[in-house]
Amino acid sequence: MNKKINRERRDFVKKSGIAAASFFIVPRYVLGGRGYTAPSDRLNLAAIGAGGKGQSDIANAWNNGANQVVALCDVDTARCKASIDKFSSAKLFKDFRRMFDEMKNDIDAVTISTPDHTHAIAAMAAMQNGKHVYVQKPLTHNLAEARMLTEAARKYKVVSQMGNQGASNPGQQQMIEWFSKGLIGPVDQVYVWTNRPVWPQGIPVPKDKPALPASMSREDWDLFIGPAEYVDYHPLFHPFKWRGWWNFGTGALGDMGCHLIDPPFRVLGLGYPTEVECSVGQVFTQDWQPEYIPEGCPPSSHVQLKFPATAKNKKPITLTWYDGGIRPFHPEWIPASEDLGDAGSTNGVMMIGTKGVMTCGTYGLIPKIYFKNGKKIEMPKDYMTSNPNEKLPEYGHQVSWTQACKAGFGSKEHQALTSSFDYSGPLTETVIMGNLAIRSYSLGTPGQNNRLSFNGRRKLLWDGKNMKVTNYDEANQFVSRPYRQGWKMA
Ligand SMILES: NC(=O)c1ccc[n+]([C@@H]2O[C@H](COP(=O)([O-])OP(=O)(O)OC[C@H]3O[C@@H](n4cnc5c(N)ncnc54)[C@H](O)[C@@H]3O)[C@@H](O)[C@H]2O)c1
Repeated sequence: MNKKINRERRDFVKKSGIAAASFFIVPRYVLGGRGYTAPSDRLNLAAIGAGGKGQSDIANAWNNGANQVVALCDVDTARCKASIDKFSSAKLFKDFRRMFDEMKNDIDAVTISTPDHTHAIAAMAAMQNGKHVYVQKPLTHNLAEARMLTEAARKYKVVSQMGNQGASNPGQQQMIEWFSKGLIGPVDQVYVWTNRPVWPQGIPVPKDKPALPASMSREDWDLFIGPAEYVDYHPLFHPFKWRGWWNFGTGALGDMGCHLIDPPFRVLGLGYPTEVECSVGQVFTQDWQPEYIPEGCPPSSHVQLKFPATAKNKKPITLTWYDGGIRPFHPEWIPASEDLGDAGSTNGVMMIGTKGVMTCGTYGLIPKIYFKNGKKIEMPKDYMTSNPNEKLPEYGHQVSWTQACKAGFGSKEHQALTSSFDYSGPLTETVIMGNLAIRSYSLGTPGQNNRLSFNGRRKLLWDGKNMKVTNYDEANQFVSRPYRQGWKMA
């Protein structure tokens, strides 16, 4: 347990009296007994965004009482009702800034599972208050935010983990071992694909103004908007469907890229890409006149990212991404009737090496190698079942984070985390780089009769270190975003 936090918490209790003390000051000898965890050995957890994925994130981190949930912050009490019922003694908030003001000394660590546009602002507030953070994927809405969070986790010495739970799946470890033994040889082509979007996307901006759900006030909706541009409530935005709108979400690539690009990024030791190019699907409701909806993420996209050779992989790599149901074809070495990646070939990864193709589905599951000579290997079952975290939800992705929080910043538990921001920050930047190209693709002047002038439809050259497109300055507007008045990162 972080001694400093414990000390501050006890000081706080002394100052604030008995009500706060009831949370955690129960001397060990009162309860006693073997297997009992003293309150001071538990982490005091808070959730920002406790509905949707947040429901399992906070429950998994709570770990059947190994830790305690002291606060829940959510803008929609109906969406997070299951968490409120489960953690009935937790204090409820709508505004995370108020939560940190009121409970600064009562919280050790925070799970953040809000829509993408509020990840960074909530995570930065948590870290500035000295809280360890578990932040859903993609880590942030834009590149600049990912860089800021990565640096802030080091600056504030907090233990961080992004919610790409496949990172803790033994399948990824298996692929690292196979690759480092040289089984597939150096890789030059990587294919990654997803069946997302599976929510409305590429559709016109809704014009009607339905009433807010009974569980939300105007103030709650304003908090939902947070740093984004203000728009009125619509059920096409909240819950879940915010994914398809750039104001809040990051589209299909943002939704699945941090799961599916994770295996090649990790196995091949990739860093920042140097080039990105894309094309996106079009929708026609009138002859010859494609819909032009720059507010919305496209119905499908095809993105190519280029990477230089790495310390682990001695060849330059081209990574090709498909979404919207488009997927790559069977490479020569994979039999015609085999699924690619997941069952039904819905999502997957293929790394093409000189000796074989290494594949997996979502979360690094079902890893396999198809060799040039026709042989195939799969992960042995006991590789999975002998993993100490096998029985934990999501292979202990949240539990290992809570254990690292207790061990403290820089501990071996912290260093062993599979997706602390030192890793997941650059991974997110890479994923979001694809979105920068997709948004750039809409830049230009839409005209009549298909006479369109879209200047952003080009290959973009990227200086990753300095976060700058070097051959088309207009695209740099998507590196960061202006925040709404009243909201700031630092
Ligand atoms: N790792 C995974 O497998 C996985 C799966 C699903 C979602 N996710 C991620 O989890 C995040 C949430 O997605 P979801 O599908 O649960 O969305 P959702 O809309 O279903 O749930 C979001 C929750 O956050 C609340 N919320 C919204 N704005 C808030 C704010 N400013 N402050 C506090 N609470 C707020 C909402 O009321 C809701 O309870 C996203 O980043 C998404 O990418 C990850």
